[in-house]
Amino acid sequence: MSSSGSRIVVITGGSKGIGRQVAFKFAGESAKIIIVHYDPDETDSDWTLNALSEKGVEAESHKVDVSSFEAVDVLFKEILSRFGRIDVLVNNAGITRDTLLMRMKEEDWDTVIRVNLKSVFNCTRAVIRAMIKQRGGRIVSISSVVGQTGNAGQVNYSASKAGIMGFTKTTAREVAARGITVNAVAPGFVDTDMTAVLSEKVKDTFLRQIPLGRMGRPEEVADVVYWLCSDAASYVTGQVIHVNGGLYM
Ligand SMILES: NC(=O)c1ccc[n+]([C@@H]2O[C@H](COP(=O)([O-])OP(=O)(O)OC[C@H]3O[C@@H](n4cnc5c(N)ncnc54)[C@H](O)[C@@H]3O)[C@@H](O)[C@H]2O)c1
Repeated sequence: MSSSGSRIVVITGGSKGIGRQVAFKFAGESAKIIIVHYDPDETDSDWTLNALSEKGVEAESHKVDVSSFEAVDVLFKEILSRFGRIDVLVNNAGITRDTLLMRMKEEDWDTVIRVNLKSVFNCTRAVIRAMIKQRGGRIVSISSVVGQTGNAGQVNYSASKAGIMGFTKTTAREVAARGITVNAVAPGFVDTDMTAVLSEKVKDTFLRQIPLGRMGRPEEVADVVYWLCSDAASYVTGQVIHVNGGLYM
């Protein structure tokens, strides 16, 4: 915790969907919340900032492409110079570019790997020295059930999400002695803009495979992310926590 008592929390992809709900969870403890997004406009981030401000929380948003090492470096240096520390990093930004492997363009592969996986390296690399100096910190990255199981049509996405699992375990080992925990949350099928684009047929196929019989809500993922950043999870590191209604066991 920072000397002023508020944790400094950075959430990538915090403008909407799961990231927005993670921000709302941290609002309950009056954290200082920094949202990073790359939406075409500020509609969703403004909505989130307004909602946070109504909850009495200090929050700000930055439109930065987390796949850019340089842009992330500049942003995090600026945050660290103003606040002196970062207590929590939630690597949540992600995209899909689905198609079968045989039709996938090189650009679809590269873009998804850069936005979903390289971003996790970029952001974690940008906070890790500060967290080591603080002798504490929490890092949670959002993976996916398909990083574990695979999913036809998502070779780029599932590879990026499996990569997050390996990244998480290795980083957890490297920094555990410094009091930093590093974990991943692997959601199943969650009701956000990302899944809104799927056809009813694809949704039905998924739903039939989910023992709990419904999509997850973004706040149900956020609850687990928040728990991993709480004192209650002080002995949990290097884990991938699945939040998927039983889709994968
Ligand atoms: N929705 C699901 O069913 C589901 C399932 C498993 C995992 N996930 C993962 O959860 C995370 C959040 O997904 P969501 O469903 O809330 O998605 P969403 O589309 O609602 O939100 C995505 C967020 O990521 C941000 N983003 C995208 N590209 C970016 C970039 N280059 N730089 C900075 N920010 C960028 C967007 O601005 C937005 O804030 C993603 O990593 C996604 O892969 C989602």
